[in-house]
Amino acid sequence: LRDDRHVPTQSHSQQPNHHRDELERAAMARAVELAARGLGSASPNPVVGCVLLDAGGRTLGEGWHERAGGPHAEVVALRAAGDASRGATAVVTLEPCNHTGRTGPCSRALLDAGVRRVVYAVPDPHGVAAGGAATLAAAGVEMVSGVGAEPAERVNAAWLHSVRTGRPYVTWKVAATLDGRTAAADRTSRWITGPEARAEVHLLRAQADAVVTGIGTVLADDPQLAVRALPTRGSPLGPVPATVRQPLRVVLDAAGRTPPDARVRDTAAPTLVLTATEVGSGPDGRGVDLDAVLALLHERQVRSVLLECGATLAGAFVDAGLVDRVVAYVAPALLGQGPAALTTRGVGATIGAIRRLVLQDVGLVGADVRLVAALD
Ligand SMILES: NC(=O)c1ccc[n+]([C@@H]2O[C@H](COP(=O)([O-])OP(=O)(O)OC[C@H]3O[C@@H](n4cnc5c(N)ncnc54)[C@H](OP(=O)(O)O)[C@@H]3O)[C@@H](O)[C@H]2O)c1
Repeated sequence: LRDDRHVPTQSHSQQPNHHRDELERAAMARAVELAARGLGSASPNPVVGCVLLDAGGRTLGEGWHERAGGPHAEVVALRAAGDASRGATAVVTLEPCNHTGRTGPCSRALLDAGVRRVVYAVPDPHGVAAGGAATLAAAGVEMVSGVGAEPAERVNAAWLHSVRTGRPYVTWKVAATLDGRTAAADRTSRWITGPEARAEVHLLRAQADAVVTGIGTVLADDPQLAVRALPTRGSPLGPVPATVRQPLRVVLDAAGRTPPDARVRDTAAPTLVLTATEVGSGPDGRGVDLDAVLALLHERQVRSVLLECGATLAGAFVDAGLVDRVVAYVAPALLGQGPAALTTRGVGATIGAIRRLVLQDVGLVGADVRLVAALD
């Protein structure tokens, strides 16, 4: 869009449509980037980005939804564009809202500003009646949906998943050697990956509403699980947030064995220790009931969970079908012994039971490899 070659001399209506489509797809990619700036601060609201284009495809204004209670992405972009938004095209990652919450419906704001065309990626998951597309279309605004839907879905995965399923989106983070070990056999090793990968885990924590661990990890490692040292640069996982919001720390601890002086109980962030008394036992009487844990967290407006635990709890989450995404840091190192990344009962006893994930991204982080993969 910053490229002058894209600035046509014809009016919008005379442009060949494929050129307009190309400009709108590029604007949608930019809107997804803007939306990502809300990761870690917009929750429990969705992350949304918006770009306003003039008839020639030039950017008039940009916006993203920064925090619940703050202005929506469309409104920020309309303010930036001012009077120029009359006749503009709004490119937005999520269908504009139709309800009067704390900030008024975006459908109305777009109409009042004289926007003529709205291109959005993902329909409102609350259903046809909830979104603003029908209102805007009825008022004569040209509506286009589905443009750039995949990256727009991905950036907003936590919120969309919560609305669709009624439970938080769970990312399991794991750091392992090339031979799949997550700790040394004698428990002497603390860090498997390098400082860059470890800093990125703080980014994942900052993006999450809650960080969940098991009592096994608390007793073995005494982790603090708060956001301390963010990386200096963003990554495909998202930008470095401007302001850090500490996640809720959650320990799953059926018998209440979390020591009073465990670091996870310090004042750096709020903490919830969930025992079997509070949430019930797991289906086979072991641990706590994971469905009940996620239901409780959903009720507390937790939309995204980062699971940072050992093989036992990670395996229980996988077996229960409660992991949505894996972020794995693989160090080019061999241990030969020590706990594996995952202990499950359901996966992989025979090759027919192998669990294949959908690879979303691969990258280098310092000397380690980051793999991002989604589960069905
Ligand atoms: N490399 C990494 O990314 C990484 C990350 C974290 C930990 N680790 C390593 O993992 C090791 C600890 O592993 P771990 O397997 O002992 O600990 P864990 O998976 O963190 O915790 C396991 C414990 O969680 C409790 N739990 C509560 N609800 C459960 C449920 N529904 N299903 C299963 N367990 C449930 C159980 O204890 P109760 O029954 O008493 O509740 C269980 O023993 C440490 O050596 C640590 O270094 C590695």
